[in-house]
Amino acid sequence: MAVIILVGFMGSGKTTLGKKLAKQLGYQFMDADDTIEKLHGATIQEIFAQSGEAHFRKLEREFIAGLGETDNVVLATGGGMPCYGDNMELLNKVGTTFYLKRPVGELAQRLVNAKRVRPLIQGKNHEELIAFINVLLPQRELFYLRSDYTLEREQQQVLFIRFLLHRDGIC
Ligand code: S3P
Repeated sequence: MAVIILVGFMGSGKTTLGKKLAKQLGYQFMDADDTIEKLHGATIQEIFAQSGEAHFRKLEREFIAGLGETDNVVLATGGGMPCYGDNMELLNKVGTTFYLKRPVGELAQRLVNAKRVRPLIQGKNHEELIAFINVLLPQRELFYLRSDYTLEREQQQVLFIRFLLHRDGIC
């Protein structure tokens, strides 16, 4: 019984890997953005547009505070969630955290191709995304790197994560 928490920049693949891992472990999958959207009856884009980013960060903080009794869950966090206040510390208390690391160019490519609208990068082309990520990622990595595990891209596989969880007696 455990809570597995995936953190990382937008486009790092938290949701895709999280769903696969949850299935393998027989756990429930939870996406922080989806849960916040359902709870507040508005999309992330609408929350940003109507109430601003600071309000969205408050909702993220409330979401983490509500995780107390959660168990048998794989949680995909939003890319900014660990990087505000003591959120990363709280996430580390709630569960076992994994940072999904990826090179800047790859993140930019994945975000250019993504269907989901992300308010922070809306309308940015590939070059603009590279510049944006180059500024933001080093700031955010200070938080991501406090995860229990940092996974390089080739380690971001269900089997490898299961091996780590088993090896370290987590689940
Ligand atoms: C954000 C990342 C998004 C979402 C929101 C803000 C960020 O989640 O929470 O648009 O600040 O990096 P994903 O990482 O799932 O794209």
